[in-house]
Amino acid sequence: MSTIEISGLHKSFGALEVLRGIDLSVEAGEVVCVIGPSGSGKSTLLRCVNLLEEPTSGTIRVAGTEVTDPDCDIDAVRRGIGMVFQQFNLFGHLTVRENVTIAQRRVLRRSRAEAERVATANLSRVGLLDKAGAYPAQLSGGQQQRVAIARALAMDPQLMLFDEPTSALDPELVGEVLAVMRGLAAEGMTMLVVTHEMAFAREVAHRVVFMDGGVVVEQGPPAEVFGSPREERTRTFLHRVLEPARVSENEIGVQRKE
Ligand SMILES: Nc1ncnc2c1ncn2[C@@H]1O[C@H](COP(=O)(O)OP(=O)(O)OP(=O)(O)O)[C@@H](O)[C@H]1O
Ligand SMILES: [Mg+2]
Repeated sequence: MSTIEISGLHKSFGALEVLRGIDLSVEAGEVVCVIGPSGSGKSTLLRCVNLLEEPTSGTIRVAGTEVTDPDCDIDAVRRGIGMVFQQFNLFGHLTVRENVTIAQRRVLRRSRAEAERVATANLSRVGLLDKAGAYPAQLSGGQQQRVAIARALAMDPQLMLFDEPTSALDPELVGEVLAVMRGLAAEGMTMLVVTHEMAFAREVAHRVVFMDGGVVVEQGPPAEVFGSPREERTRTFLHRVLEPARVSENEIGVQRKE
């Protein structure tokens, strides 16, 4: 049984068809990175997995439970899915430790002692135990994102979804967040990661999925997708993101003044 099994997924917003038939599965322990141009539907795909967006058609199973079944207990499924976004969404009026314990207490009904124990373990996992008493505003963006990861991990998810977790960060803070994610991957966490960090995808992903225009254009091991992409659209995209300085004016239709 796959951890995620998506088949024939379509999603429209009004007349705009954003996902146009996605088939994708993620196995337990697998790290899958989704890459692709802006607007290709990557976030929408991720948000459909825990029904933050309701699919227009198709089926999605998470650990065997069909989340697209109207009778599915979606809250139960969501409890097993950790989600980390570009924006950290920490509670500013709570300390780091409180941010990591609150959902454990309220949603999982853990005792204070148990929630504290799990918070301690996960804050040290992301290297921030020494910041447990700080407030989010006293932390850097990279540290805040690591707290957001610890908060998700504290719920003991069987699956982590990441949507561009480093793209709101200053460049010098990106590495510390990727290091935490690399550690999770090494521990065998199942991860579906939308990212612009091609070096990370190349090094950490078991599989890379290239999306464009609401479909999966190609997927495979990173060495293949990056090293010898089969599709022209993949080549064009990689050329743009890997060598932005070399994209010609011609390619994007810029006219030079004579
Ligand atoms: N709630 C919404 N209502 C209407 N249109 C939406 C909504 N959410 C997304 N879209 C549209 O769906 C398309 C795909 O958006 P999505 O955010 O999934 O793309 P993306 O691949 O994540 O892009 P980016 O790399 O910029 O994050 C875009 O055209 C976007 O404007
Ligand atoms: Mg997005």
